[in-house]
Amino acid sequence: MPGFLSGPVCLTVVCFLSWSLRSSCAQILADEVSDVQYGRLGSNVTLACGKSKIRIPVVWRLNQSSALPWHKVTSDGALLLLNVSHSAQGNYSCYDSDGFLLHVVKLMLGHPPGLLSISCQVPNHTHVRCSWVESVKTFLPSMYNASFRGNGQEWTPCIVDVIHRHCDVHQPAFWLTIHTLRITQTNGLNSETTFAQFSLHKLLKPDPPESLSVQEIAGYPKRLNVSWNFPSSWPIHDAFPLKFQIRYKPQGSVYWSEISSEVSSATIYDALAGHLHQVQVRARDEVNIDSQWSEWSALLLARPWSAYTTPDPEEDLPNNVFPFSSKPETFTTKPHNVVPEDEGNLGLVILLVLFSVVILTTVLSLIFVVWVRQKQRDHVTKQELASMVKMKSMPI
Ligand SMILES: *[C@@H]1O[C@H](CO)[C@@H](O)[C@H](O)[C@H]1NC(C)=O
Ligand SMILES: *[C@@H]1O[C@H](CO)[C@@H](O)[C@H](O)[C@H]1NC(C)=O
Ligand SMILES: *[C@@H]1O[C@H](CO)[C@@H](O)[C@H](O)[C@H]1NC(C)=O
Ligand SMILES: *[C@@H]1O[C@H](CO)[C@@H](O)[C@H](O)[C@H]1NC(C)=O
Ligand SMILES: *[C@@H]1O[C@H](CO)[C@@H](O)[C@H](O)[C@H]1NC(C)=O
Ligand SMILES: *[C@@H]1O[C@H](CO)[C@@H](O)[C@H](O)[C@H]1NC(C)=O
Ligand SMILES: *[C@@H]1O[C@H](CO)[C@@H](O)[C@H](O)[C@H]1NC(C)=O
Repeated sequence: MPGFLSGPVCLTVVCFLSWSLRSSCAQILADEVSDVQYGRLGSNVTLACGKSKIRIPVVWRLNQSSALPWHKVTSDGALLLLNVSHSAQGNYSCYDSDGFLLHVVKLMLGHPPGLLSISCQVPNHTHVRCSWVESVKTFLPSMYNASFRGNGQEWTPCIVDVIHRHCDVHQPAFWLTIHTLRITQTNGLNSETTFAQFSLHKLLKPDPPESLSVQEIAGYPKRLNVSWNFPSSWPIHDAFPLKFQIRYKPQGSVYWSEISSEVSSATIYDALAGHLHQVQVRARDEVNIDSQWSEWSALLLARPWSAYTTPDPEEDLPNNVFPFSSKPETFTTKPHNVVPEDEGNLGLVILLVLFSVVILTTVLSLIFVVWVRQKQRDHVTKQELASMVKMKSMPI
């Protein structure tokens, strides 16, 4: 057990080296820091050597070593630390000339609290959560006391979570138009109170809808069935209806299409056949026009039903002539639903073939016409050349 042994061994060595090894060693180690003193960073800090009358001269130590930051010892034995920085923090102990420990004080340095910047979230009609960030980094432990009220009401506590720096109000008086939150931050140096005013109606913002699911509809290559659940933090209750907005686009496209719904499902009728689509949904209180849309739900990818499949359903080729499906179960539904689609595709193929024949014929005839004209022109040029030669050879 070297760890267990090395501690005591080390301490023994430290005690041995200490000039006051007879009596004070055990005392220093046993002594609890009885006092905490707070100081402002950058200021001068005075540490008193206990409250009682001091036998001077005294010796001060920081963290049990004799190295001290820039300091003075005053006539009454107090320690004056100048322009303190973080490194001046620690346990200060003062001793009399016999090496007898008189006093230990822990110095903690930081800044007094400043105003807080507060924001509140209202995910339903029965809950308000307000969180804050400090405008001044204090470096010191803080306590917060928060209370909340609607205009004209008594203050009620907003229950604080110090670690996450937020507080919760349950069952706020939602019918009142203005609410006030008051937070008092207190640390070892000072306290500061911040007030924030807001309207719960305007802050009401549901959490995003959950469990989004997008289904192909067998036999319909341009449709997608979208469904979702109410946010779990929203009471499913006729008194608080939500409206929903669904947005979708073929993957890679810039433009979203949107549809809305008042129930937790909807059908898209104009999907791009054969393409993977991105789908999202968001929610908003249906009655309260001041309220906010929720964030969009997580993005879901889905492809509409199609009659054909390829061996690699992962790939999404935008200019593939034949749409394909990522769902193998398409095969099972095929015999029943495919007929109208098949006829449509056959017609398309015939049209394509006819179109190619027309194009080919046009191109061939154009080439023929050009060739004939070139021939004629060659002929004419030869005749002209011949006549010019004749003219040149004539005597002038
Ligand atoms: C200062 O004292 C406290 C309380 O006794 C102790 O937990 C801490 O380790 C000490 N710090 C140093 C650097 O000695
Ligand atoms: C700190 O003490 C020094 C020396 O006594 C003095 O010059 C300085 O003005 C003091 N600073 C503050 C912030 O009090
Ligand atoms: C106090 O210390 C800081 C650095 O810790 C230094 O920038 C500043 O000039 C000092 N002020 C005085 C008055 O010595
Ligand atoms: C004393 O200990 C504190 C931690 O308790 C530390 O922050 C400080 O830097 C130490 N100071 C010295 C001079 O060792
Ligand atoms: C918080 O503030 C309320 C109202 O001002 C007061 O009654 C209560 O004692 C305070 N609590 C603490 C822990 O300071
Ligand atoms: C699509 O959703 C509608 C309701 O929006 C439902 O009636 C229909 O059965 C669904 N179709 C499929 C194939 O899931
Ligand atoms: C309102 O939202 C809060 C926070 O998400 C949640 O704890 C609470 O259960 C919700 N209230 C209802 C009635 O669903």
